[in-house]
Amino acid sequence: MGRCCKCNGRLLCMCLLPCMMTGHLLIYILVSVFVTISYSPPKITIHYIAPGISANSSELASYPLGPFWNLRLEDSALWNQLQHAWDRQYNPILRGNITGIMRKSKVELLPEIENDCVSDCVSRKCSVPRMHGLNSLPEQMKAFISSMHCREYPLLINQPGMCRRNNSSFGLDSPMLIMAIKTQVGNFENRQAIRETWGRSGLVKGESNKKGGLVRTVFLLGRQDSSTGPHPDLKNLLELENQKYSDILQWDFRDTFFNLTLKDLLFWNWLQQYCPTAVFVFKGDDDVFVRTDALLDYLHKRWEEHNLWRVRTNETDNDLDLFVGDVINNAMPNREPSTKYYIPEHFYKGRYPAYAGGGGVVYSGSLALRLKEVSERIRLFPIDDVYLGMCLDRLGLSPIHHPGFLTFDLPESDRGNVCAYRSVLLVHKRNPKQMLTLWKQLQNLPGQC
Ligand SMILES: *[C@@H]1O[C@H](CO)[C@@H](O)[C@H](O)[C@H]1NC(C)=O
Ligand SMILES: *[C@@H]1O[C@H](CO)[C@@H](O)[C@H](O)[C@H]1NC(C)=O
Ligand SMILES: *[C@@H]1O[C@H](CO)[C@@H](O)[C@H](O)[C@H]1NC(C)=O
Ligand SMILES: *[C@@H]1O[C@H](CO)[C@@H](O)[C@H](O)[C@H]1NC(C)=O
Ligand SMILES: *[C@@H]1O[C@H](CO)[C@@H](O)[C@H](O)[C@H]1NC(C)=O
Ligand SMILES: *[C@@H]1O[C@H](CO)[C@@H](O)[C@H](O)[C@H]1NC(C)=O
Repeated sequence: MGRCCKCNGRLLCMCLLPCMMTGHLLIYILVSVFVTISYSPPKITIHYIAPGISANSSELASYPLGPFWNLRLEDSALWNQLQHAWDRQYNPILRGNITGIMRKSKVELLPEIENDCVSDCVSRKCSVPRMHGLNSLPEQMKAFISSMHCREYPLLINQPGMCRRNNSSFGLDSPMLIMAIKTQVGNFENRQAIRETWGRSGLVKGESNKKGGLVRTVFLLGRQDSSTGPHPDLKNLLELENQKYSDILQWDFRDTFFNLTLKDLLFWNWLQQYCPTAVFVFKGDDDVFVRTDALLDYLHKRWEEHNLWRVRTNETDNDLDLFVGDVINNAMPNREPSTKYYIPEHFYKGRYPAYAGGGGVVYSGSLALRLKEVSERIRLFPIDDVYLGMCLDRLGLSPIHHPGFLTFDLPESDRGNVCAYRSVLLVHKRNPKQMLTLWKQLQNLPGQC
């Protein structure tokens, strides 16, 4: 009995094992063939079209499926061409020592390689890029192209003491948060409402009342006068305002939509010079509402996590790279000529990199300084939040999405409900009166909800 069983077992083994193995192989082959046949490449879903366009898909332009940075030359798009030239110039493999080139380039290399330059705007030695069909473009696009080589404009109103300790001439305070708010000369009421509510300068408590931090608010302005359209002369009023509040930064460039990117660049320059130890930077519009206390809590948490990580990994010289906002992925340029966001295909080809909507974003101070540096190698782009996305992309970073950044507002039914603001960090858009009302309502939020 035992022997027979053993014998049967061996027989079974010798017979069945090869059969089973062949069977498995067959199944494997069948499955692979099936998968190969039925495979279709993943579709890239377009989540979002840069704002201002009608939802008419036939008006959307074609775009390449490749990655955002693309060394292939897009021969008919001006920005891509200009950027391509810089990419080659600053390519560390082709050129070796980038820092050496960066330092040299402004004086020697640039004019040699192509006849334009970054900083020399005043003497008009720089050439304006030539572009096919320039004359048929909207005015703002033409104005942008003819000044896109300029990035240095003098300060008209400065705040050198913003981060000085107790107004003394030595020692810097390190604000936990510096709030840089894009505004225009005429928006006195917005600025005042911000000062009285979420943009208060000074020590601000966190929402959970544990740790707050020092907050400093500055307003970023360009020039608004007869050259930007019919504007009443508000120069003296602005000066009075600045005497009273000392929080205005104004540069000598036309304050227009396509010049907003300049506010980022020039603010970074200012930050590096006058407030380099700020821990975090908020940059946003003057028609948003920020729950500064909740934002401080969030930032404290990130900061503490980072410090813990630093201690644990012993990487003491690693700075925090935080960039957070309402992130938009796979957006395409707006090709609708009637909108203010219109970017013609002759100017830029390709998708936009991931970027955070410009209503308001927060990033770490150390990252601001790195953004400043990398921006010197990226051509100006007329849409400021997209430009920030390009700079981040170049640093190999991605913006972090936070659902508390509501740049498209709360659902309409929730706007009147105070408790709906509990999880909000930023909401767009609120006028000055709404800011004051909301501020008052939110004073004792946790008790109510
Ligand atoms: C979409 O665009 C096409 C052609 O440009 C036009 O005929 C059509 O009316 C548009 N549809 C909408 C809903 O705007
Ligand atoms: C890069 O070039 C700069 C200036 O030419 C020089 O000071 C620096 O030491 C160089 N760095 C390296 C890694 O070669
Ligand atoms: C500066 O301000 C801090 C509080 O922010 C205070 O403790 C300190 O005494 C002040 N120093 C001077 C010289 O006023
Ligand atoms: C500096 O001092 C002035 C009064 O002398 C005060 O109004 C202002 O708020 C102070 N600035 C800062 C940043 O503390
Ligand atoms: C930006 O500002 C500069 C300097 O004032 C001006 O020459 C240029 O036309 C402006 N660009 C736009 C798009 O308005
Ligand atoms: C951390 O790094 C420092 C020098 O960089 C070294 O002296 C120290 O021993 C390191 N500590 C640990 C726990 O690795």
